[in-house]
Amino acid sequence: MRTTAELQAWSDSCRKQDRSIAMVPTMGALHEGHLSLVDAAKAKADAIVVSIFVNPTQFGPGEDFDAYPRTEASDLAKLEGHGVEVVFAPNAAQMYPDGFATSISVGGPSMGLETDFRPHFFAGVATVVAKLLLAARPHYAFFGEKDYQQLLVVRRMTRDLNIGTEIVGNPTVREADGLALSSRNAYLDADARQKAARLPAVLKHVIVSLEAGAPTETALADGRAALERNGFDVDYLSLCDAETLGAPIPGHSRRLLVAARLGSTRLIDNMPVAAGA
Ligand code: PAF
Repeated sequence: MRTTAELQAWSDSCRKQDRSIAMVPTMGALHEGHLSLVDAAKAKADAIVVSIFVNPTQFGPGEDFDAYPRTEASDLAKLEGHGVEVVFAPNAAQMYPDGFATSISVGGPSMGLETDFRPHFFAGVATVVAKLLLAARPHYAFFGEKDYQQLLVVRRMTRDLNIGTEIVGNPTVREADGLALSSRNAYLDADARQKAARLPAVLKHVIVSLEAGAPTETALADGRAALERNGFDVDYLSLCDAETLGAPIPGHSRRLLVAARLGSTRLIDNMPVAAGA
């Protein structure tokens, strides 16, 4: 399906038949992480729609919009057998016709972290996700916890705008050595790929220190130094409240989030941390 009109008509007919709809928004270059979202969606709803759209408005100048892998034929093959009813793969003119002039700005969980380094990012994500949800009107939409801040921003936006879709977060899928699956892992050469596994290993190490009661500043400084020793340029390594991404609150669950670059490849990851005293 290429047009929003077709998607809206499909959604209307599902709803008329009382079939529940789940959507999995993606930018394609599908991997096991995406397929786990599709399978979780299938377990929850009757009719599944996957969108594939490399959204230009969430890339800043000098970012990898042109290089981002576009692999529609193999994406469609990977979705075979996963019970997907519709793949919505619009072009940019369909999503952003001439004269398009709207951008959704989300506060709250979008403050800091990614926004400090990619200030354009969440307005691009919130706007395209709102358009997708309003066209497909799914009962549920599934997002990976790998993009944890994105998950919270989309959830906030969906609630604030009364879109009526339940946003479901699914656990990160990892390679055997712990590296979180990401379409951008394709940019890593063999040496960088080997080094990349240090990222989740360092996160785990920092979490062990934090949960053993080490002062936050010390644990984070040690973690940052360990990443730098392994060749990473660290954008941030931060401990946040898991629900708001504000400062940790005693007794609330926490999340450790990282963004770090290996050469020109930027990796992000995050893990849960038990509530602190
Ligand atoms: O996570 C992604 O792949 C994208 O940010 C999303 C949610 C599909 C919006 O373009």
